[in-house]
Amino acid sequence: MNFGGILAGGKGTRMGKTDLPKQFLMLGEKPIIIHTIEQFLVSPAIDEIVVGVPENWIDYTKDIIEKYCKDDRIHVIQGGKNRNGTIMNICKYICENFKDKDNIIVTHDAVRPFVTQRIIKENVETCKKIGAADTVISASDTIVESKDGEIISNIPIRSQMYQGQTPQSFNVEEFIKQYESLTEEEKEILTDATKTYVLKGKKVGLVAGEPYNMKITTKYDLKLANLMLNNLKSEEE
Ligand code: CTP
Repeated sequence: MNFGGILAGGKGTRMGKTDLPKQFLMLGEKPIIIHTIEQFLVSPAIDEIVVGVPENWIDYTKDIIEKYCKDDRIHVIQGGKNRNGTIMNICKYICENFKDKDNIIVTHDAVRPFVTQRIIKENVETCKKIGAADTVISASDTIVESKDGEIISNIPIRSQMYQGQTPQSFNVEEFIKQYESLTEEEKEILTDATKTYVLKGKKVGLVAGEPYNMKITTKYDLKLANLMLNNLKSEEE
């Protein structure tokens, strides 16, 4: 089976002072996380959806799902202490409740509500073909590396550079195996889930993202997302 793993276990500190973690803030007429879940609900490539949220927001999440997009295929569970911890909790939940060696998880940031049907479908296809998938867009600006933050240490060839988005997709049992093989120190520094694969020399295929598959991180991003939503609506009318 193919699972949507919605990563919503964060606090959204870079959003500044808000009443709710950013994934629950309104975007147009619905909370951000509901827009995201709906994209996975309508995808023919996805069978079930598991949402990982902070422990004290589980009931709240169930309430808004009931209100906006009630569906028996949605499961809400406790997230982890960091993003990879949330992915692990979701993978373990899948293993305990839907055990099958071929299960695939399409992990996606709850705060990227503009993910498309094509991106979700191609993540499943690429993961089946290569073993893991990462969604990226070509770097439009030159990437400059500086190890000390003062002097340039490298300027990689731009045509070989990409910016990572989500979804990132894995075989569920394989992800658990890879993650558990890391040392505690490696787990601390690995903010990107696919890096666990790259470090172990395992293949990760690329899926073309979209510039508008943006992550809502700051108040400015939320304003931009609202403008985009209104623009999309007026295009539909
Ligand atoms: N996330 C998660 N579990 C965590 C931390 C983050 O599932 N323990 C999720 C967030 O909820 C978000 C996604 O990972 O949907 C991307 O992370 P980011 O934008 O960094 O979210 P936050 O950690 O919430 O933001 P901040 O760093 O500003 O606190």
